[in-house]
Amino acid sequence: AQDKKIVIAIDGFSSGGKSTFARMLAARLGYIFIDTGAMYRAVTLYGIEHGAIRNGVPDRERLVGMLGEIAISFRFNPRRQASDIYVNGECVEEKIRGIEVSAAVSSVSSIPEVRRKLVALQQRMGKDKGVVMDGRDIGTVVFPDAELKLFMTADPKVRAVRRYEELRARGDDVSLEEIERNIRARDRADQEREVSPLRMAPDAVVLNNSDMTLAQQMEWIEPILEEKIRGI
Ligand code: DC
Repeated sequence: AQDKKIVIAIDGFSSGGKSTFARMLAARLGYIFIDTGAMYRAVTLYGIEHGAIRNGVPDRERLVGMLGEIAISFRFNPRRQASDIYVNGECVEEKIRGIEVSAAVSSVSSIPEVRRKLVALQQRMGKDKGVVMDGRDIGTVVFPDAELKLFMTADPKVRAVRRYEELRARGDDVSLEEIERNIRARDRADQEREVSPLRMAPDAVVLNNSDMTLAQQMEWIEPILEEKIRGI
């Protein structure tokens, strides 16, 4: 039978290995991978560079007034085997991972007008299916009819160690305790915010990867893909 193209929605907590897994999955299927967190980060970067966010605090009215100027796109980068994000033609993939953006993105993502713009863009990007999209509200708001929804979790301690190793490798001087506190605080903020809080869709499949390697996660998903794509 002909494989059918589907939408795969992946939601879950921060530092849970969502992007890595989503990228692998997209490569495995020949699908497009869209990191929606990068889109919220790109709007945040633009706000910082254009004076609408100072000391991590957005001037909501100003930022909302700028939304029409911000054109976001993705372009595949063969060197990374992944897509880079562009704002008005400039590659901002590196810049959006910095601490200034990380500190302000949570408040930016709680502005309803920002969410409305990005959700509409995400829906356009996924309309022809064949996408793996990762975020916080993909299975609940962006694609409530996605053929496959995953909710990824991992023990906060495990996530803290992963993040710690990542930051140490980059040369950042951080403590494990501080990171774990930060992760728990972000989990709470993600779940308790008023607009589009992180919720598990009732029809989502849970993937707790605390004790799983990436290879084991790929093996785990295989029969689920068979069922969803081939209807077996
Ligand atoms: O996954 P990330 O850390 O790159 O996400 C950055 C921020 O954007 C984080 O505060 C959660 C928010 N976000 C969101 O509100 N909705 C999404 N679909 C994706 C990310």
